[in-house]
Amino acid sequence: MKTEIVRIDPDRVEDFSDELERAAEIIRGGGLVAFPTETVYGLGGNALDPDASRKIYEAKGRPSDNPLIAHVASVEDFEALCEIEDRERFGLIAEHFIPGPITVIQKKKPHIPDTVTAGHPTLAVRFPVHTVARALIRASGVPIAAPSANLSGRPSPTRAEHVIEDLDGRVDMIIDSGESSIGVESTIIHIADEIPKLLRPGAVTLEMLRSVLGRVEVDPCILGKMSDDVKPLAPGMKYRHYAPKSPVIAVRGEEERILSYLAEKSCEPRSAILCFDEDKALLKSSDRVLTLGSRLDKSAHARYLFDRLRAFDKMDIDKIYTRVPDDSELGLAVVNRLLKACGYTVVDVK
Ligand code: TXA
Ligand code: MG
Repeated sequence: MKTEIVRIDPDRVEDFSDELERAAEIIRGGGLVAFPTETVYGLGGNALDPDASRKIYEAKGRPSDNPLIAHVASVEDFEALCEIEDRERFGLIAEHFIPGPITVIQKKKPHIPDTVTAGHPTLAVRFPVHTVARALIRASGVPIAAPSANLSGRPSPTRAEHVIEDLDGRVDMIIDSGESSIGVESTIIHIADEIPKLLRPGAVTLEMLRSVLGRVEVDPCILGKMSDDVKPLAPGMKYRHYAPKSPVIAVRGEEERILSYLAEKSCEPRSAILCFDEDKALLKSSDRVLTLGSRLDKSAHARYLFDRLRAFDKMDIDKIYTRVPDDSELGLAVVNRLLKACGYTVVDVK
């Protein structure tokens, strides 16, 4: 399949109505369009067309037991797709966080195809704030089912180049609108039961959710390795995800010990390091040392994480050592992805 690559400036969507109409036609016709969102790029198809979701699973090489998120362009559209059982709770989430980097899981309406929900009785719905995503959903006139636009198991794409690396020749169109501003996937909150539950941390943080909703439970799989008898509520969280080709080893503990450990590893010819800007001067200088930005800049950590994990794949290395940022606020999302990337291999240097 020939993939058309189209550039759309997110600050001037009104000048790109021809391109958006072409993309919308592909979606309505059952084809696939990769598009930008504020979190990561998505691989979109018509959420109401079971064949389109089948094509999504195939293009990504994704196990079909892993449900998709339906993307909409208004708060009312949540109601068109789901049974909203607790209006007050949904209203609070909508008022504070929608549109934005949050996905809400509720009981699905009967017309939603089982291919989208992988047979689950619930549906995940998100209203992104990105101008191009919104314009595409509106132009398509249907909800767009979209997982992250990476091959299954690879780090999520935060730039069109990442999508091209993974999906060129597998989808009809890729829209390039530059870098995603957040860089980690949306927060997922399940509100179909009595207590809201965080299934995946993101830029709408646990602290923000608790300040609006009160009690919010956290799926234990977010920071801990899952034992075989505990299944995460979001099936996608069980896969060894976000992983570069070389094994990743996380290093935790006392600041000075971490730095001396990394300094030692930076002298090994086939080891790469992921650290903070401030650490670089202390390590053996090489192009195998990448940073997540400044130590206290959580939004930089989120924005750069997947890009850096992908960059390691282009190096001739056989191990990656990484620091683990602080896990409060947006840090929880970064640490969750990083621990998955390293398959929970953590060296404690206390
Ligand atoms: O930021 C995002 O959410 C991006 C952009 C494109 O919107 N999308 C994304 O989709 O990250 P994906 O498919 O890579 O991750 C969706 C996650 C998976 O872990 C999946 O198992 C979970 O959401 N999920 C979807 N529907 C669910 C449901 N009904 N119940 C539980 N988990 C669900
Ligand atoms: Mg994904």
